[in-house]
Amino acid sequence: MQKESYQSQEVISGAGALQEAAKIVRESGARNLLAVCSKSARKHCGEEFWQGFPGKVVFFHGFSPNPKYEEVQAGLALYEEEGCEMLLSMGGGSAMDVAKCIKLFAPMDRNENYLKQEKKASNILHIAIPSTAGTGSESTSFAVVYYQGEKQSVAHACLLPNYAVLHDGFLEHLPLYQKKATMMDALCQAIESYWSVNSTEESRGYARKAIITIRDAWQGYIEDNANWQQIMAAANLAGRAINISKTTAAHAMSYKVTSMYGFAHGHAAAICLPKTWAYLQGHIEDCTDGRGKDYLSQTLEELNRMLGKQNTQESVAWLTRLIGALELPYPVQKGRQDVEVLASSVNAERLGNFPVKVTKDALLAMYRQIVREPHE
Ligand SMILES: [Fe+2]
Repeated sequence: MQKESYQSQEVISGAGALQEAAKIVRESGARNLLAVCSKSARKHCGEEFWQGFPGKVVFFHGFSPNPKYEEVQAGLALYEEEGCEMLLSMGGGSAMDVAKCIKLFAPMDRNENYLKQEKKASNILHIAIPSTAGTGSESTSFAVVYYQGEKQSVAHACLLPNYAVLHDGFLEHLPLYQKKATMMDALCQAIESYWSVNSTEESRGYARKAIITIRDAWQGYIEDNANWQQIMAAANLAGRAINISKTTAAHAMSYKVTSMYGFAHGHAAAICLPKTWAYLQGHIEDCTDGRGKDYLSQTLEELNRMLGKQNTQESVAWLTRLIGALELPYPVQKGRQDVEVLASSVNAERLGNFPVKVTKDALLAMYRQIVREPHE
């Protein structure tokens, strides 16, 4: 088992990580525990994990893949009714998002909308145990919740879980499409983080390690159900990287692709990435990164070197082949307005993390390459 510090968090991984999580719960002194978890993660971590805690374990499964505000309210109500004093999230990004929001909302006024209140640090202990290798949400200080159908981002330093516990045994049970999509989410997050205008030496170190690891381990992970530990570690590193740098254009473009065509998040991000990467290489002159054009060129060269490629064209071709090898399809146009709707959906703030300016026309052109005509 390895323990590593990341900001105010302890990251625990390797054999015995789950047992260590149980030990932390036992030693926390907390009375009851709210376990925000998917039913499959609860089952796959083994019944013995949930036994032997000093207090009661209260399970909360009532949340959707894109968690709703009301679901967080229900979880918080349960947390209070049952006298819980600690949070454990186990599952994909949504379980962790719900636990993060419960933690943040707990000290707030019940009679007002939590999303409109001033955020204060909440000191509830939160252990996050991801059951997928992708989002890296266990090591970020932000969460997503849907309020009246609208995606809301919630951010506060206290949302970084106190412990991230990486138990790669969960990956054995992931359906193949989930495995592919979540791995591609991690890869996109790492690549986007590397060129983000907010990147730092620290974030680039995490992103670099994640990219190289996925480059070397993806095939064994997808084709031979091996390399779990490597991919789990890479996804966590990519999460740490975007926690510092945030994501950029491919993520910004992917959200509407997900809701419009029902693609998994990582799948949508993956098919947007090659277009934004090629665009970036072609528009270095429009650099918005304060570190300048030469720095940006060098960043792209470094990415090529990480992938063992001569230039961005080869790197993009590698990524495109990878998407093909994973059999992740491109969306087929449903209506004439698709591309316009997609281009209008892109969040300008997230796009601002991309190191070159992207116009609406550029978005339209990229989406036209991503969305296929019905007869193609
Ligand atoms: Fe993502």
